[in-house]
Amino acid sequence: MYKIFDTVEAVSRYTAQRVLDKIKSNPTAVLGLATGSTMEPVYEQLLQYLQQAPVDLSQLTSFNLDEYIGLSAAHAQSYNYFMHQHLFSHLSMPECNIHLPDGLANNCENACEAYSEAIKAAGGLDLQLLGVGTNGHIGFNEPQTCFDSRTHVVELSEQTRLDNGRFFDDQAEVPTHAITMGIQDILEAKEIILVATGAHKAQIIADLYHSEMDEALPASALKQHPNLTIVLDKAAASLLPENA
Ligand code: GLP
Repeated sequence: MYKIFDTVEAVSRYTAQRVLDKIKSNPTAVLGLATGSTMEPVYEQLLQYLQQAPVDLSQLTSFNLDEYIGLSAAHAQSYNYFMHQHLFSHLSMPECNIHLPDGLANNCENACEAYSEAIKAAGGLDLQLLGVGTNGHIGFNEPQTCFDSRTHVVELSEQTRLDNGRFFDDQAEVPTHAITMGIQDILEAKEIILVATGAHKAQIIADLYHSEMDEALPASALKQHPNLTIVLDKAAASLLPENA
């Protein structure tokens, strides 16, 4: 279940190759995608692979994990903007196959319900990419989120707002709420790859390794998944036992 590599580059090559293999073996695949610094080199690597050997992406579908409430797609810190900047604007994937939660929805509750339904209607997620927050969140499912949750509105924890504040000019600009796919939506993906890199992730990765399934640590829900890979660099794996 654990794949540990010396460098971020090696982590990114492995993860991007897994995504590429999925797309090649199933051109109609439904991908669950994540944002965050961890994913930037993964997407960069995936784009390199696709430039070297183009693949038909016309039938590919994607659903992103989460989005801030109150930020438009044009806002430089929105996840919609991130995904277009780092991936979609460089791909020949039809825009109508790209899905992100709508941070400006008039009725967020309806938008959330529709998002989970749209994932199901697309046939479910074939491969879900995940990062992890330093408090163990996946997507924006903060500690104490029910493991049977569907797409929902969350109030972001102070820890998450502080962590993500590095992308904003001013900490006060970090939104207080977001929409996230629920833990149950994530668990229904046929395959899950969680990626963590850097020494700042070492403690939460060690906590995850030692934890039982516990809603205080959202990523621990993944322990019940039959096809989970946790991809780490040496720094993120530095507090794991030798035999992990
Ligand atoms: C954010 C996102 C998560 C992401 C996590 C880790 O809050 N909502 O989906 O996995 O933080 O981000 P990073 O990769 O920048 O450490």
